[in-house]
Amino acid sequence: MIVTIDGPAGAGKSTVARELARRLGFDHLDTGAMYRCVALAAMRRGISPEDRSGLSRLLEETEILMESDRVLLKGEDVTREIRAPEITTLSRAVADNPQVRQHLNRLQRQIAQGRNIVTEGRDQGTIVFPEAECKFFLTADPAERARRRWLDLQAQGRRMSFDDVLREQRERDARDASRAIAPLRPADDAIVIDSTGLTADQVVSRMEEIVRRRQAGGGA
Ligand code: DC
Repeated sequence: MIVTIDGPAGAGKSTVARELARRLGFDHLDTGAMYRCVALAAMRRGISPEDRSGLSRLLEETEILMESDRVLLKGEDVTREIRAPEITTLSRAVADNPQVRQHLNRLQRQIAQGRNIVTEGRDQGTIVFPEAECKFFLTADPAERARRRWLDLQAQGRRMSFDDVLREQRERDARDASRAIAPLRPADDAIVIDSTGLTADQVVSRMEEIVRRRQAGGGA
């Protein structure tokens, strides 16, 4: 069974997806980490995200392995490195490249083949797994998402005003929703969950109940 969780940054997708997978005994796939991996590989090779042929050559030789808690790039554990702020910025540009998207979509389908999996990203329910049995779109109030992100940044020792975080997020949301390929939107058959005012545990419990009901052959 494939369970997809899409939604904007800061909605709490990763925490929820990981915990939902654990409770269900499913595998978990963080597709954002795959885009980050390509961004890291490009940065190391000095390839700009706008250099289409450079990126396409890079994809041929880039080997990404997604393990349960680790991300391996050509066998090297890059789990921490792909979370660096410059990789966050670069991954956004890399994710606009159609060839990168095509390559990673294929890889994501290969990984999910024959498995029970909770897969999270921006386009999992719309583009990569339109046939998924259970689709969620996790969102939250913009101010709440910015607050979570601001707290994360503080915890990492990075100083940024709340207003700047909110402004950047607004720009990013607008770009994500309007981009030409794989714009961020809920699939027609996705269940939209607003996590504002809910704990991660409450969100996971709600999702778990829905997935179990579907597993048992019931509706939403
Ligand atoms: O969720 P994240 O911040 O780790 O994602 C990294 C980048 O990849 C972000 O710019 C969104 C993009 N992304 C995407 O376009 N499609 C996905 N399925 C997952 C992530």
